[in-house]
Amino acid sequence: MKGKSVVTLDDLSTDQILDLLRKAEYIDSHRREVAHTCDGRVIATLFYEPSTRTRLSFETAMLRLGGQVIGFAGSQLASVTKGESIADTLKTVSNYVDVVAIRHPKEGAALVASQASSVPVINAGDGGHMHPTQTLADLATLQSRFGRVTDLTVGLCGDLTFGRTVHSLIETLCRFGNVRFVLISPNELTTPQYVLDRINATASCSYVEVRDLASVMGDLDVLYMTRVQKERFFNEDDYLRLRDTYILDEEKMALAKPDMAVLHPLPRVNEIAVEVDDDPRAAYFEQVKNGMLMRMALESSVVGDELPGYEEFANK
Ligand code: CP
Repeated sequence: MKGKSVVTLDDLSTDQILDLLRKAEYIDSHRREVAHTCDGRVIATLFYEPSTRTRLSFETAMLRLGGQVIGFAGSQLASVTKGESIADTLKTVSNYVDVVAIRHPKEGAALVASQASSVPVINAGDGGHMHPTQTLADLATLQSRFGRVTDLTVGLCGDLTFGRTVHSLIETLCRFGNVRFVLISPNELTTPQYVLDRINATASCSYVEVRDLASVMGDLDVLYMTRVQKERFFNEDDYLRLRDTYILDEEKMALAKPDMAVLHPLPRVNEIAVEVDDDPRAAYFEQVKNGMLMRMALESSVVGDELPGYEEFANK
């Protein structure tokens, strides 16, 4: 994986994804052993869009591996305000660091960045397109809850048009196979055709599109809730009309299987009532922790630093 940019998870083989899951498991139980893995390394976090979890976990991941962090959060502080292109920014910043994480509001920005950079670039979210490291966090959460990322009925609910985490997750689960997707959204926020095409092209996967959440609750192993993405709407009235279409509360949780897992990439607005946080099926804060562990696994891998003791652990 050394030197590899990750724009989508298609940039990684299935074995590499499984290896990252195993590395994250190792890191979680060997924090001290891995604390100097990336001594002398530097990551740049270039965030042209707001973020709490993704930026802070990319940065914490490098700090916990012994490396350091530079970057900006909010393009108003960078030379993009003077008209600098993404390509020129990457041609510059990649002289300073060993790896770059970039978030940008435009689809395709991470690909452009990776083509201009002399060091690996990790997509931290490009518009409504993809968010591969969120998917790594999601996979780690499924793995820890079910011991597998396949043979599941996965409901995805909310903004399936603009929700880049949804697109990344569906595409990746299709690679593992045997997933039945239940796509729950209003008519205005259905799943893009290119994502449906991916499911259709996977013999062992299928989907249904529905409007009502309560009627499918009992079928689901996983419910992946999403926020209606205000920042991607052209029209405020449409956002206000659609934002509270789905609210997961205790009443709906009573319809679900006893071992269903509720995931959400966060931030949430109203779509999961706070009362659900105390339900053991709520897995969304576990997802946050898994995001940091998976980013530690990914950062160390793309810069080419071995986690001390990992090889022996992996061969057990
Ligand atoms: N899940 C996620 O991408 O959260 P942030 O926008 O806070 O980074």
